[in-house]
Amino acid sequence: MSEIQLKSATATAPSNIALIKYMGKTSNHDGTNRPVNSSLSLTLSGFRSHVRVSEIEKERGAIDWAPFRKAGLQAPELSERGREKFFQHAVRCFERLGSGLPQRGILIESANDFPSDCGLASSASSFAALTLAIATFLGLDVEERSVRSKLSALSREGSGSSCRSFFSPWSVWNEEGASRGEGLPGSNLLTHVALVVDDSKKRVSSSEAHQRVSTSLLMRGRPERAETRLNLLLDCLKRSLGTDGQTSWNRAAQLVWAESWDMHALFETSDPAFGYFAPESLRVLNLVRDMNEAALSRDASFRFPLVTMDAGPNVHLIFWKSEQASLYIDDLRTKVRSFARMIEGALI
Ligand code: DP6
Repeated sequence: MSEIQLKSATATAPSNIALIKYMGKTSNHDGTNRPVNSSLSLTLSGFRSHVRVSEIEKERGAIDWAPFRKAGLQAPELSERGREKFFQHAVRCFERLGSGLPQRGILIESANDFPSDCGLASSASSFAALTLAIATFLGLDVEERSVRSKLSALSREGSGSSCRSFFSPWSVWNEEGASRGEGLPGSNLLTHVALVVDDSKKRVSSSEAHQRVSTSLLMRGRPERAETRLNLLLDCLKRSLGTDGQTSWNRAAQLVWAESWDMHALFETSDPAFGYFAPESLRVLNLVRDMNEAALSRDASFRFPLVTMDAGPNVHLIFWKSEQASLYIDDLRTKVRSFARMIEGALI
């Protein structure tokens, strides 16, 4: 008797860190994840989710999940709700990209090469990887431009920020959907560092945060503020490549800092208020402020790191590569050793 060939496909997708944040949806109930403002992110190609989609000997419609077991990968702890969202998205992908679920059951295996649910945006990379794995399973050319845009839009319905993970190194998500940010510093010029102060699961999910911020009075004017800041930031980042690039880059650093605080202020002014800061997050931010001053006084051409926090207590820094930046990173690693873990993710 000949053995039945069960189909399987694997994909990986990177995480991304937003510098202008997606926070707040036009509707929290229609399930389409449409943002109230445009956002900008840097794609973190060193922080990836891996997803394998396989047919299994079960009836059509059966969907299971299991951790993707492979050296170097950490399986996320998927809650019942998380699993349900993942399954719903798988069904959505099969329906929109093909002609519905395959004849047999489906097993989805997933894992990350970085800690999950700690502000390193694992939902972005895992939904992007799931979308890509199903597209590959169905034989689509996922590198083709129009297919990629379509997959990004589809992935957005699973988790909004995942739509940005399809483009690199910069991704802009506006009313037309997500696309590659053009004319911005290349990843060869940049280094990303995450300071993980706490990798336990967050208490308020980002989906819930999107809902709760609608109660903040600071939400009034927020879409306009975010759009203005985005345009200023894009301009500064573009100019950071030109003559007197340092001034523009340092101005970009100020805008990124303000945007991160803007989002966290939305959280703390919601009703009920909530927040993600740990004491160590503030310790890192204060340390970075002091180190910036010291670095600038040593070298007048020093470019400050872009500093931002997502819906979690960890701090992300994006450095303009230089001798000074390497020294800064080494010094920072030593200074935070007792309370934070430094993860350097390659930007490809
Ligand atoms: C704070 O994409 O996780 O990371 O669309 O409900 O899945 P859903 O939300 P999600 O929100 C991300 C919020 C953020 C900021 C950002 O990445 O822009």
